Amino acid sequence: MWATRAACVGALALGLAGCDGNARSEREIGGPASDAVELASIKPLDVGPISYFEDSCARCHGAFGDLYALPFVTPDEELPRVIEEMAAGPAQAPLDGAPLAALIDYHRSMRDGLPFAALVGREGEHLVFEVTPDAALEVDGGAATRVGPYLWRVSNASGVMSIRARQGDAGVVLPLGESPWTGRVSD
Ligand code: HEC
Repeated sequence: MWATRAACVGALALGLAGCDGNARSEREIGGPASDAVELASIKPLDVGPISYFEDSCARCHGAFGDLYALPFVTPDEELPRVIEEMAAGPAQAPLDGAPLAALIDYHRSMRDGLPFAALVGREGEHLVFEVTPDAALEVDGGAATRVGPYLWRVSNASGVMSIRARQGDAGVVLPLGESPWTGRVSD
């Protein structure tokens, strides 16, 4: 399964022992940290997945998906189609490309009980992220500050070496240099 396989890859990358598929006290998901140069080249998402969800989906599915009965009835391979149709149909806010892919990964993170984070803007030296409200953004080489229920600002962005979202014992690494959001590592 996606989460288990990704967790094992992450655990091995970090040199952690005991990646046998059993429950662990600590899950680390994502590739090794990238360097600051790559961070400067990542394009923020044009549409913030969490704010989009709150604006377009939450009136039927609850704030941050609270009313979803998880796991989804829809099988994983059909989730992209269902979400695209929900966006174009009931939500009346069609999505495609990276914003749609990020919204789909946001749903997979809900399903798997993992935190989600996405780069949604740049303000000079600052980076702006949307992060699952129950999670915290952890940054090596910079400072992360919560500026809203699901909005974070990272300062000293030019020195950032790694960024992860942490929720309880689950930490998901943002694959800097590959994608502006979490959850793409094992695609
Ligand atoms: C007007 C209400 C409404 C809005 C707005 C809406 N949905 Fe839905 N959604 C539903 C209903 C009703 C169902 C269940 C019946 C169905 O599958 O058609 C559903 C089903 C789903 C499912 C499948 C759940 C499962 O267990 O398999 C997903 C995923 C989903 N919606 C995502 C979204 C997303 C993402 C948005 C915003 C882009 C959205 N929906 C907007 C009413 C809505």
